[in-house]
Amino acid sequence: MSTTDRPLRSGQWFGAEGRNGFIHRSWMRNQGFADDVFDGRPVIGIATTWSELTPCNAHLRDLAESVKRGVWESGGLPLEFPAMSLGEPLMRPTTMLYRNLLAMELEELVRANPLDGVVLLSGCDKTTPGLLMGAASVDLPTLMMTGGPMLNGKFRGQDIGSGTVVWRFTEEMRAGRMTAADCAEAEVGMSRSRGHCMTMGTASTMACVTEALGVQLPGAAAVPAVDSRRYALAHAAGRRIVDMVEQDQRLSSVLTRQAFENAIRVNAAIGGSTNAVVHLLAIAGRLGVPLSLEDFDTLTADVPMLVNLMPSGAYLMEDFAYAGGLPAVMTEIAPLLHLDHVTVSGKTVADNISGAQCWNRDVIGTMAEPFQAAGSGTVVLRGSLAPSGAVLKVSAASAHLLTHTGPALVFDRIEDYVVAADDPDLDVTPETVIVVRNAGPRGYPGFPEVGNVPMPRRLLADGITDMVRISDARMSGTGYGTCILHVAPEASVGGPLALVRTGDLVRIDVPTRRLDLLVDDDELAQRRSGWQPPRPTADRGWTRLYSEHVLQADRGADLDFLVGGSGSAVPRHSH
Ligand code: FES
Ligand code: MG
Repeated sequence: MSTTDRPLRSGQWFGAEGRNGFIHRSWMRNQGFADDVFDGRPVIGIATTWSELTPCNAHLRDLAESVKRGVWESGGLPLEFPAMSLGEPLMRPTTMLYRNLLAMELEELVRANPLDGVVLLSGCDKTTPGLLMGAASVDLPTLMMTGGPMLNGKFRGQDIGSGTVVWRFTEEMRAGRMTAADCAEAEVGMSRSRGHCMTMGTASTMACVTEALGVQLPGAAAVPAVDSRRYALAHAAGRRIVDMVEQDQRLSSVLTRQAFENAIRVNAAIGGSTNAVVHLLAIAGRLGVPLSLEDFDTLTADVPMLVNLMPSGAYLMEDFAYAGGLPAVMTEIAPLLHLDHVTVSGKTVADNISGAQCWNRDVIGTMAEPFQAAGSGTVVLRGSLAPSGAVLKVSAASAHLLTHTGPALVFDRIEDYVVAADDPDLDVTPETVIVVRNAGPRGYPGFPEVGNVPMPRRLLADGITDMVRISDARMSGTGYGTCILHVAPEASVGGPLALVRTGDLVRIDVPTRRLDLLVDDDELAQRRSGWQPPRPTADRGWTRLYSEHVLQADRGADLDFLVGGSGSAVPRHSH
């Protein structure tokens, strides 16, 4: 029996008398539940983004079994259900086109069903923010459990990181320093176990960020997917969600402004992905928590990067877990965190991290001896080329390019650039600024990860490995390079990026956070008068809905009508 006096929403289904109660219980009994499971106990939905098309999430149904153990043990009724799965390795044109669709689906599924609390099982990049956005708009007691990273990749005695090694080795192959056979061997060695990318890419970043937000149990972000401790944590998560329902600890009470500030600081300390910026803005938008692009810059100015993981560093998530994982990082930056913030564990951040230790200082540095100095995280640039902002991950960039003026080489389509990049006669120098546009939320459509555009073959052959690249796209969290991303407004809604021409001078000045197009106003006004918006890319279906309603990067690229929430009120009867 539920120990709460408060009527649970599931009671309006399973506690109903007459025809509706008959219907709601009878069909559920075909699953062989004992008579007393409909006695008013908390009903816990376990939303799984399991799919064999999403290898990073292919073990989540096993993890769900461990969550169920805990729910049963604490007197709840666990019911697992699928939510749309989004897998980076396969989905085209980009999973980001579908993040908001997952959010919308999860929101509606949770509200429409007899659920009192939800455990969210995610892994691959977009599944974590998509589920959280949807859950935030319903605001039931909610706990997230990410699926954990793969074991370290291995290649000829070296550790190799998913994503990062793909970008690096394929560039080596283009430069003629590796063969296709070498790469085939790396392909086999990179993905050795179940789990998500084991670099500090977007999946690992979002796992850490959710732990820092306080919506997953302490320590849960880093433990490898195949480690028995992850299953023990899932068992504990199942127990805890029942308590959360009985205490009515709703998601909005966890995801406060304080939680976001902690997450933003932790993201800087781990050297997290630029994608966290977009996702956190979107989640905050669902809850009405005020959060701006500048928060990601100002809140992190005093946060050094402590974690030495690829793509910026040397190690991988497995090493991070054994070194103490996120609790060890949060202990180190504790003076910068809101320690009294209450998390899904039912305890404060201070309680969660008390006793945490670091076991390997090569992997997790200290405030006194960080891996990289403060200010090496994500910076926000504004200026005549990006009036609504752009971002740059300093730790992935080259120091000599942080202040740079060079001539633009402009491409309207990423496909055109990819062809040109292999042209041995491409008119390009190390000073050139590559501009790729129409790759934003509306333009592509779907805001793909094409912003770390490959280096021109001609420069690679000369040993040049980095140059300034600017786009309205995103970049994989495993990517690197001096890539200015998320330029807003994007080109296809008429942002200044649309007006740049090859040869125009572009100035980047990270110390003053500026990104400017050095073309005078009269000339720009003239160009604008001749600008035509591109034709819509779809005349029906989800892509049309998305393109008509997607917000710009500085608003998290949510759909305008999905911002905010509708709560968990029980809908009208279906029969
Ligand atoms: Fe799924 Fe990287 S591809 S986590
Ligand atoms: Mg990724």
